[in-house]
Amino acid sequence: MRRLTISQLQRKALKGDKIVMVTSYDATFARLVEEAGVDAILIGDSLGMVIQGHDHTIPVTLEDVIYHSRAVARGCHRPHLVGDLPFGSYQVSVEEALASAARLMKEGGVQSVKLEGGERSATAVRRMTEAGIPVMGHIGLTPQSVHQLSGYKVQGRTGAAAEQLLRDAVALEEAGCYALVLESIPASLAVQVTQRLSVPTIGIGAGPDCGGQVLVIQDLLGLDNEFNPRFLKKYAHLHDAIVGAVRDYGAEVRSGAFPSTEHALP
Ligand code: KIV
Repeated sequence: MRRLTISQLQRKALKGDKIVMVTSYDATFARLVEEAGVDAILIGDSLGMVIQGHDHTIPVTLEDVIYHSRAVARGCHRPHLVGDLPFGSYQVSVEEALASAARLMKEGGVQSVKLEGGERSATAVRRMTEAGIPVMGHIGLTPQSVHQLSGYKVQGRTGAAAEQLLRDAVALEEAGCYALVLESIPASLAVQVTQRLSVPTIGIGAGPDCGGQVLVIQDLLGLDNEFNPRFLKKYAHLHDAIVGAVRDYGAEVRSGAFPSTEHALP
C-alpha cells in the first residue's frame, strides 16, 4: 500500500513525531501538499465555506465530499486521505452512518472517515470500526453544531464542560477511533485529553501538545485577509499575491502588452 496507513500515523505520534494534516479539496492542492510532505489530507466539510461560499458547513452533502475526495485521490499518492462525513449523513441512524461511510470509502477513495460528536457518536463509531471502517473523531468545537453552540466559540472552558470533553474523548477511543481532532479548546485541556488517550490527538486551536495539527489549506496560505482567528498562523499571504497577479494580467490585456510576440503561436 502506497498511502500512509492508520497504524503508520499512530506509530509516528507514539514516537513523538507530529502528524501533519491539512485540508484539500482538489487535485491541484493535493499534488502541492503531497510535495510538501504532509502525512494526511482531510477532505473536510469546511469545503462548504472555502469552496462553496456558505457561512457554515451544514449545507454540504455526502455527494459533495465524495466528489472532492475523488479529485484529491487523483492528485496524490502518499498521504492518508480522511473523508469528512457531512451533517445529516450519520446522525439519523447507525445504519445510515455505516452506509455513508462505506460510500465515502468506495466512491471517494478515502482510507478513513471523520465524524463529529463525543459520547453521542460512540455507537456509530463502534459499528463502523467493527465493519472495518477506520474512524477519526472530532470533539471540542464541532462546526456542524454551530447553531446549537450559538457560534464558533472556544469549548471546554468550565469544569463541567472539560469533564464532559474528557468523557467524550474516552468514549470515542473505547468505541474504536484511531485518532481524534480537538478543535478550539484550551491548550491545558488538550494536554489532559492527549495524556489520557492512547490514540493520537490532532489539534486545531488546541495548543502545541497534541499528537498532530490540522489547518484548512486556504487559511494557512492566507487566502482570506478577513479571516484572522488567534489560533491561525498564515505561512503565506496569497490573497495579495493572487489579486496582484490577476490585476497585472488584466492591465496587460487591456494595454495590449499580453500576449506579446513571445506568446504568439507561429
Ligand atoms: O472540515 C474541516 O476542515 C475540519 C477541520 C477544521 C478539522 O473539520
